[in-house]
Amino acid sequence: MRILFVASEGLPFSKTGGLADVVEALPKALVAQGHEVAVVLPRYRGTKTTAVVIPSLTIPMGGTRLRFPAIADGTQLNGVRYYFVDDPGYFDRDGLYVGSSGEYADNAERYTEFCRAAIEVAKHVWPADVFHCHDWQTALVPVLLRTSYGDDPLVKDLPVVFTIHNMGYHGLFPPSVLESAGIPRSLFHPGGIEFFGKVNLLKGGLVFSDYLTTVSRKYAEEIQTVEYGHGLDGVARSRSDRLVGILNGVDYSEWDPAKDKLIAAKYSVKDLGGKQVCKQDLLGLFGLSQEHLGRPVIGIVSRFADQKGFDLIAEKAHELMREELVLVALGTGERKYEDFFRALAAAYPGRVGLKIAYDNVIAHKIEAGADMFLMPSRYEPSGLNQMYSLKYGTVPIVRATGGLDDSIEPFDVEHGTGTGFKFKEYTGEALLFAVRQALHHYMDERIWKRIQLNGMAKDFSWKGPAAEYAKLYEAARAARGAGEATQSSGRAPQGSGQVSRAARQAARNQKPAATSN
Ligand code: ADP
Ligand code: GLC
Repeated sequence: MRILFVASEGLPFSKTGGLADVVEALPKALVAQGHEVAVVLPRYRGTKTTAVVIPSLTIPMGGTRLRFPAIADGTQLNGVRYYFVDDPGYFDRDGLYVGSSGEYADNAERYTEFCRAAIEVAKHVWPADVFHCHDWQTALVPVLLRTSYGDDPLVKDLPVVFTIHNMGYHGLFPPSVLESAGIPRSLFHPGGIEFFGKVNLLKGGLVFSDYLTTVSRKYAEEIQTVEYGHGLDGVARSRSDRLVGILNGVDYSEWDPAKDKLIAAKYSVKDLGGKQVCKQDLLGLFGLSQEHLGRPVIGIVSRFADQKGFDLIAEKAHELMREELVLVALGTGERKYEDFFRALAAAYPGRVGLKIAYDNVIAHKIEAGADMFLMPSRYEPSGLNQMYSLKYGTVPIVRATGGLDDSIEPFDVEHGTGTGFKFKEYTGEALLFAVRQALHHYMDERIWKRIQLNGMAKDFSWKGPAAEYAKLYEAARAARGAGEATQSSGRAPQGSGQVSRAARQAARNQKPAATSN
């Protein structure tokens, strides 16, 4: 099968979060299973390309405005072909989505152009069997295929699988972007992309795609509830027969202490010795005393955003620091959390190590050198760091939500089973309780090693998830081949994913085994 990925970021070219890890690793895993995969990304500042495939595309924006991006062909990496939408005015900037004065004001235009250009890649450069789109920045691909491109025999019936990596980011814009970005006005109604008087691009992806996925089974259930749906739970429910949860995998060629070139010493299940060397190195890197070698070090690597649950740490910070522990944190993001961590480091000098930075090498060193890894997320679609932690024998302490719940089993001292510590209630008290449980078990070397080895033995490679996606691509092709799901009138598929009973039945029969509902 020929699968065309469209994403706003992907390693090794661009990254702000886990999406980029997925957009690198999943195509690789699909190629290993015999598929052909190409990835379309924006050409951001610093992306090196080797050739020009289309020197100038004509992309209609609003009114009579046109833009002329090029399509650059970067390279083939690990068997995956990369294409870049090259429009320096839009993409050659300091940040991906955000500049020094906040979110770029023209984000709707930037990513509308990007989606149109990606469709042109499928038309003229790399004919695909299926599109795989990711998050709001690419949501206009399915929308435009069934509207602006609805009469285009080359692409109008191309199936689309759309992955929601984070329901909290909608791509929400004032209605004026319909005009400025050239989005068909006929879509602006509650069954289309309108959301309380605004344009909601993510909603377009939810409504118009053939299949929806999200990055864990638990999150696929959660987004259908008011608590986790960010206002789109109704739309998610209306498409529940086409919504599948597939937990992300780990790229073990990047994240494995037995092979990791970025850490101070390698180690594995057979010999954990190197982990202590990594701990020494980590303490040194954060300017902390080697006297802490015998004490538990808790690591954090994160975007500093509301999603990640740092308000719980803030609530119990002083009680937490009353325990015998050392905290090491790496992150950047919202000012209030950066300030909180700075204040904490100032209040507990020598016991809290902090780097306000985005640094992949330090991220690896924390995974390797810490004893525990803390992710108290308010919500977490999948989460990757907790799975990296398992491989590094760094015991995760997580809130039982989304992918954290799906990937971490609570330790059971009686049976010696389980890989970490979990808490359910979103309260500081529950967080504190889970941390204390972990600290308690850390005291017993034999028990602690059991927990570490349980985690290190887990296999979260991309092999299984990639096979599940491949089944889903087939299901999307079959569903569209049957003339199902969407229509090309600029209206949503019969009321936000409500399809005919016969079509639903057909889809159900084709639904792959790995579903969440
Ligand atoms: P999210 O995508 O919500 O940020 P994930 O757990 O899926 O969360 O992925 C986060 C990814 O970004 C991981 O690969 C993690 O190591 C990396 N990361 C996050 N913050 C930083 C940072 N400050 N420095 C280096 N890497 C980071
Ligand atoms: C999002 C989510 C995170 C997930 C990542 C990759 O950024 O917040 O949980 O792991 O996407 O799917």
